[in-house]
Amino acid sequence: TKAVFPVAGMGSRFFPASKASPKEMMAVVDKPLIQYAVEEAVAAGITDMVFITGRNKRSIEDHFDKAYELEAELAMRGKTELLRIVRDVIPSHINCIYIRQSEALGLGHAVLCAKPVLQDEPFAVILADDLCDGESPIVKQMVEVFNQHQCSILGVQNVPREQTNQYGIVSSTPHTDDLEWVNGIVEKPKPELAPTTLAVVGRYILTSAIFDHLQNVKPGAGGEIQLTDAIEMLMQHEKMLAYRFKGTRYDCGSKLGYLQATVDFGLKH
Ligand code: UTP
Repeated sequence: TKAVFPVAGMGSRFFPASKASPKEMMAVVDKPLIQYAVEEAVAAGITDMVFITGRNKRSIEDHFDKAYELEAELAMRGKTELLRIVRDVIPSHINCIYIRQSEALGLGHAVLCAKPVLQDEPFAVILADDLCDGESPIVKQMVEVFNQHQCSILGVQNVPREQTNQYGIVSSTPHTDDLEWVNGIVEKPKPELAPTTLAVVGRYILTSAIFDHLQNVKPGAGGEIQLTDAIEMLMQHEKMLAYRFKGTRYDCGSKLGYLQATVDFGLKH
């Protein structure tokens, strides 16, 4: 029932666009990236959205909040369709919880910030800058896998070998056509050192035991507290699956991926 959206990163690859406003609020056609991510979670039956925010991220809170003045003005002018669009940003049964990560110490640290509200339940982690598009929403697919196997699930896809240094890379043994048992994971290995080309993209379902490991992880690649390092420790205590999801993923943290998403979603719109 809970998803964590780490949105406290610097977004430096989009400077100056992301200097004063979050990259997660950049629009693909007419919706900000974070809204696509939240819609994916809603479609999977998730009801509690936990945002890990930082400075300059207030517009994310405003986006999912009621906009009294705007709604009153649209109602007064009889703009019912626009009013519907503004109100439909998030369904009324969804809870939004905001936690501030005061320093961007890494993705692992951002997820650890959610611990006080997650208790002992498994939860999803969704990175909004990985925009995913599938016939069935990717997180929904992963929840179905979780319900069957009751273990942590990593969303993975094959990447070109020269790009392994941008991802967490998994080594695994096949289970079914689209599932593999994870037996190793390494953060951003050089192409010549990568064990495989199976990359973890921004979709995870994790058991709450991940917090025990996040608390003990030392800064890793790039001096950051890496989620990958905690996953590596978790994997030694619990079984874990890598799931080759059905769908397309756009790396909207990069300019090229963002442009590709804009073209593809624009053509579909
Ligand atoms: P990225 O490394 O892709 O995001 O982190 P970034 O740091 O914002 O971007 P660049 O590399 O400087 O352009 C993946 C996700 O983790 C979040 C980011 O917001 C992004 O959604 N994140 C990262 C945090 O919430 N906190 C952090 O300390 C680091």
